[in-house]
Amino acid sequence: MYVGSHPTIRQVMAGNSLISTIQYVAGTRPSFLLSEIVQYLDAPMPVDEIYRAIAPELPRLGLMATRREGDVEIKKIPPAQPLFPGNGERERTSIFLEKRELPPVLATAIEEYITKKVGKPWDDPVTVERLRKAITAQKDDYWKPLHQRSLRYTKGYSVLGYLAYHFPVYFMQTEHLLLRLFEEGFLKKSMTILDVGTGPGVVPLAIADFFSRLDGGKASVYAIEQSEEHIEAFLYLRDAFVPRGGPVSVKPPKKADIRDPLPAGLPERFDLIVFSNVLGELADRSGDPRAGIVGRFAERLARDGAILVVEPADEVNSTRMRTLAAGLEPAGLTVHAPCPLFRGTACKAPRCWSFATAPAIRPTRLMGTLARCDESYRYINTDIKYSYAVLQRAAVRRDGFRLLSPAKFLQLSKLHLHEGKRVNTIVAKMSGELGDAKTHLFKVCDGTAKAPVYAVLPAFHKTAENEALLSAGYGSVLELLGVLVRHNKAHDAWNLLVNRNTEVRGPDRHGE
Ligand SMILES: C[S@@+](CC[C@H](N)C(=O)[O-])C[C@H]1O[C@@H](n2cnc3c(N)ncnc32)[C@H](O)[C@@H]1O
Repeated sequence: MYVGSHPTIRQVMAGNSLISTIQYVAGTRPSFLLSEIVQYLDAPMPVDEIYRAIAPELPRLGLMATRREGDVEIKKIPPAQPLFPGNGERERTSIFLEKRELPPVLATAIEEYITKKVGKPWDDPVTVERLRKAITAQKDDYWKPLHQRSLRYTKGYSVLGYLAYHFPVYFMQTEHLLLRLFEEGFLKKSMTILDVGTGPGVVPLAIADFFSRLDGGKASVYAIEQSEEHIEAFLYLRDAFVPRGGPVSVKPPKKADIRDPLPAGLPERFDLIVFSNVLGELADRSGDPRAGIVGRFAERLARDGAILVVEPADEVNSTRMRTLAAGLEPAGLTVHAPCPLFRGTACKAPRCWSFATAPAIRPTRLMGTLARCDESYRYINTDIKYSYAVLQRAAVRRDGFRLLSPAKFLQLSKLHLHEGKRVNTIVAKMSGELGDAKTHLFKVCDGTAKAPVYAVLPAFHKTAENEALLSAGYGSVLELLGVLVRHNKAHDAWNLLVNRNTEVRGPDRHGE
């Protein structure tokens, strides 16, 4: 029986577990002692025992514990302070990104590591030939079906091949992604970060480099990796590249299989958990393990923390990742970027092939040396194209662009009612150029579409009024005023034809 409109603690306890009681009491006061809870238990438990039972759950509940003279005080974890870019930070970051170059210290450290591992100069012809073989084998393997792949990184040369071919582009890609996270308010002044399947430390090293250009902000970066060869490379590159005492502390990776329970010795709570180019590699005889793995790691996510999933941009990996991200709702995770949230709908990602691009990097000296052969194109890897999703707990609300008058714009889910007609709609640009110089093609989305939708602009229809479709960045919100709706039966997709009479309003010119 309730007294007034609120239940008493004893009433809550009667029907609920210890955890719900802790949660309930935490909601009613700023802090409390565990000894206060004891009186509400049917079978009294010592404070220490209560503490042991609830400790693993506290971060998930947004609570923290402090010992106080034989007792334990429980209070809310103060929300992490977001970090927003200032002009100096933006300028330093763009100067770095515009160079399109792996930091020279890191490029040299990779060469020196190869020399150390093989006991011969990195540019010795025998070493170079073996690196080429390792790179070719890795690429051949990548295109095999998942269960036939043998990407295990147990042999020295497979990791050296990764350093030569994949590392530079993935490192620079991560720097671009960090800038996106920074601009969108996902970075915090003091962060605890976990990189899952870290390989030779691409993500931790990029974080250390990115933070070195910020005015404030610090991070402790933890990592998990199963391959000893990768861990060895990680530690060598970290010691060569990350200054001790700097704003980012990169911890030695834990050797573990990410399909197993989390290894001991990691913090209880992370502000950012990264899965970069790893989930797509996971095969499991008993089905797709990816959602289970992300869900398990998410239990360690701070209440306002974020999970970043990154995969290659090819159609198979990209669409698999997008379906995974959209399907994580049952694990309490919602996609917050790059997908448009302005209609407030949860997208089911129907066949969504969406990726971001950035200017190609300059080949490293090592890549240039590998490419001095008949099939040089095989060893140059400079294009940055990636698919990513940022997930947060569903309960976290982010301030974003919301439509004030949704009725002014046709929802993409209603396109079938307007086939052959001109309509006004509002979308986010969700791909780089998918077409060619004659016909520009971009994936667009408003979070409601039931089939893929593309904006098509024949080059001869390009005008100053519709040019924003080409120049807007990935994820930008665009008003398309007067687009012709066409159904592409062969691909069960919708095309929005932009012609010289169409106006495309970019982010700065919304009529809302
Ligand atoms: C393609 S690499 C990506 C490395 C890095 N995250 C990046 O973006 O460059 C995939 C990494 O995941 C690791 N990995 C794959 N399956 C794993 C598992 N089950 N447990 C732990 N690590 C795993 C591999 O050893 C490899 O280092």
